[in-house]
Amino acid sequence: MEIIMPNVAPFMKHCLIGGKEVAAENGKMIALTSPSNGEKIADIAAGGAIEIDKAVLAARAAFDSGDWSRLSAMERGRLLHSLSVKICDHAEELAKLEAMDTGKPYSQAQADVAAAARYFEFYGAAADKVHGETIPFMNGFQVQTIREPFGVTAHIIPWNYPAQMFGRSCAPALAMGNAIVLKPAEEACLTPLRIADLAMEVGFPKGSVNVVTGLGEIAGAALTTHPGVNFISFTGSPEVGVAIQTAAAINHVGCTLELGGKSPQLVFEDADLDAAIPVLLNAIVQNGGQTCSAGSRALIQRNIFEEVVDQLKVGFEQLIAAPWSEDAHLGALISAQQKERVEKFIAAAGDESAPLIARGKLSENAVDTGHYVAPALFAPVAENHLLAKEEVFGPVLSCIPFEDEADAVRIANDTDYGLVASVWSSDGGRQMRIAKILRCGQVFLNVYGAGGGIELPFGGVRKSGHGREKGFAALHEFSQLKTIVQNHG
Ligand code: NAI
Ligand code: MG
Repeated sequence: MEIIMPNVAPFMKHCLIGGKEVAAENGKMIALTSPSNGEKIADIAAGGAIEIDKAVLAARAAFDSGDWSRLSAMERGRLLHSLSVKICDHAEELAKLEAMDTGKPYSQAQADVAAAARYFEFYGAAADKVHGETIPFMNGFQVQTIREPFGVTAHIIPWNYPAQMFGRSCAPALAMGNAIVLKPAEEACLTPLRIADLAMEVGFPKGSVNVVTGLGEIAGAALTTHPGVNFISFTGSPEVGVAIQTAAAINHVGCTLELGGKSPQLVFEDADLDAAIPVLLNAIVQNGGQTCSAGSRALIQRNIFEEVVDQLKVGFEQLIAAPWSEDAHLGALISAQQKERVEKFIAAAGDESAPLIARGKLSENAVDTGHYVAPALFAPVAENHLLAKEEVFGPVLSCIPFEDEADAVRIANDTDYGLVASVWSSDGGRQMRIAKILRCGQVFLNVYGAGGGIELPFGGVRKSGHGREKGFAALHEFSQLKTIVQNHG
């Protein structure tokens, strides 16, 4: 595929508050650089407590007395749908921005933009289909429940999928009638800023969608501790998840946390390996392994262990990390810091407790100023090794042998995380037995990830977080139930 590099001169982007572009009062900017080559692509505002306060007040005004709260569910849904269409109209521009900003291969960025549009399509269509209930009660009474928005919802999203995360976190909150303040990641946030502009263009009322860029520990912390925020949605590291949950507790508000994982794929001797191997590879290579639901552990039955590892080795040796415009298997990682983190994990392994079996290659265009890491395959990884327990967030696959069903489940559940898992087996009974005892939020049978699945409730247990996003479940997360009891005599 030939891709023409866009000629984008570095540009400036301010916050979006109350429908207007607002510069940070301190005048400070943060330089965004391309992970592919280190070149500057934009300056974004380094917002802080002042901008956060303005944005929360703007959202509050839109919610309390502004045009947003007056819209019916049907009208809100139509606005979300218009935004979905607008994102599709701007798909090429957005995909290029996303690829430059994150370093991911161009076709991955295209898929991400399509998914962002799909979030607004799905939640636009769902906005007027969230019903309450009537509850049988004592004679002479009528009882009903209604679902209400919280008011102002705060959204803190990471850099790995900026466009998709905007859709995943914000679309259901807006569908339920909340006014939002988004703090995207300081490493990559150009598509959320652009999509928020497009929201204004299609007629979202001023103040219903606000974006404040800035550093996590400054702008992010100011947002999550702001007393005017009524609910928080966070995706990112477990460490920051603790800070978010603490802030939510102090302000007596709820939160959803999506904090990553160490997701296993269980491959049994009766699995269709031709189907499983490409999926095992893709699940760790997609987005350079910088995916919360990356399939970072391959648990393989001992009698087929060597055969599967041999096939994975062949696959790994063909993988190429390259600049986004080359559209290879993976791009550069997001930052020098992330590259260093991943290389540290790789350097700490490679001995007999985690032998290095194969590495992919770097493209000849993978310049030193970019943050490239060649994918790495380790097998057999000892059960207590860091590579069997810790989230690497890079293209590193750990293969671990198991004896039987019980052993596979024991190892699968033996991390602090619990986000996604898959079972590869032709035994239907085994698939379902295992699905029911795996400690995680999603289980796939003879498939993994299943193409994103905006319709499918998603979220974790334990260190992977709590609360559910995607599907109708997200509409419930971003709203609260009110019970109305009438004594009609
Ligand atoms: P992070 O958790 O620091 O950043 C995620 C978001 O939180 C960003 O928007 C950031 O600005 C914001 N943030 C940071 N500190 C904050 C604070 N004190 N209060 C409020 N918001 C704050 O994650 P980081 O540093 O980018 O990556 C570190 C590791 O976290 C990665 O190597 C990976 O293991 C994990 N991670 C997991 C993600 C997931 O999808 N579950 C996404 C990003 C990172
Ligand atoms: Mg951080």
